[in-house]
Amino acid sequence: MTSGVLLVTGGGGVGKTTLSAALAVTAARRGRRTLVVTIDPARRLANALGLRELRSEPTPHAEQSNLWAAMLDAFASWNAIARRHAPAHVAERLVDNPFFEAAAQHFPASQSYASAEEMANYLEARRWDLVVVDTPPAAGGIEFFSAPAEMRDLVGGRLLRWLTGGRLPGRRTLFNLTARPALRVAGSVLGSDLLEEVAEFLMDLRTTYDGLARRAAEIEQHFRRARTMVVTTADPAPLREAARFYRELPEVAATPDTVVFNRVLPAHWYSASPPPDGPIAENLQRWASEAHRQAEARQEFAALWKTEVATVPWRAESPTHLDALAELIEAAEGLPLDQLGIV
Ligand SMILES: Nc1ncnc2c1ncn2[C@@H]1O[C@H](COP(=O)(O)OP(=O)(O)OP(=O)(O)O)[C@@H](O)[C@H]1O
Ligand SMILES: [Mg+2]
Repeated sequence: MTSGVLLVTGGGGVGKTTLSAALAVTAARRGRRTLVVTIDPARRLANALGLRELRSEPTPHAEQSNLWAAMLDAFASWNAIARRHAPAHVAERLVDNPFFEAAAQHFPASQSYASAEEMANYLEARRWDLVVVDTPPAAGGIEFFSAPAEMRDLVGGRLLRWLTGGRLPGRRTLFNLTARPALRVAGSVLGSDLLEEVAEFLMDLRTTYDGLARRAAEIEQHFRRARTMVVTTADPAPLREAARFYRELPEVAATPDTVVFNRVLPAHWYSASPPPDGPIAENLQRWASEAHRQAEARQEFAALWKTEVATVPWRAESPTHLDALAELIEAAEGLPLDQLGIV
């Protein structure tokens, strides 16, 4: 079976998780065995997908055939990564180190890396026709694609080298670390016990380097073959994030197939005949001008980046059950479902 992957990406809060779920439901209903990997979905959306607990193990949907869902658990993923790539006794010490947990959960690149590594695992399992990946918001879109290279640099000792100077210390010299200027400063801030723990964490992490570097290269291969859908709204911050995909994408990713404007107001709101006077009229005029502004933002984006634009309508209620999710895709305009691997 050939597994395709669709990466749904874009700035924070634009609707990545919602559209990932909506596209996955659509693909499943069209007969494709589909896995959606979500990150931090709203509770009602998680319920709709049959995810009642944090599980990186794909769960088949009780009511929708061909649909599986998994939720990223970055800490569990990093545990598995450490156990796979570090010698057994080092892996034990590493996962017990409090900095390991902190880095796995809270460092944006490590969350992105965990998500990319899970994507690779699911694809290589070849159990699904389509894997839809909702990319982590913490890293803000494009950084997802640079996460493998970033982790390789970090684990390769960039941070440790910065702390310790040109030569990396051996374990025996760990206790003399405060001789170095950067560490003296860090030591006086953190205290030497804590500093030792940080240094031990970074040195243990280094033992995963060969395995992790190999895996990062494989993940980048998957990126090259992936389809990418950028989601945005017509607001300035998400638009800036979306533009970065056309301007500065790392070489490991192809230019997105499509940019999708979400929460779009209907065009007839600004082409309708003017309403009568009064407070309701004023209200309607404001919405008309907002609908017009959105349309202009889409045209500008399409012209500037020479890209196709699709639109997903704004719904008064958050789409959180299967039918509402599928309906959102039916109501979309310009979505190239075949190109995205949905049909
Ligand atoms: N087309 C739509 N119509 C109405 N509400 C929507 C639409 N798309 C998304 N929403 C709502 O907008 C909110 C943000 O959506 P969602 O959580 O999918 O965004 P996200 O990009 O995943 O956010 P984050 O970056 O925080 O992960 C949610 O409450 C969702 O239900
Ligand atoms: Mg989300």
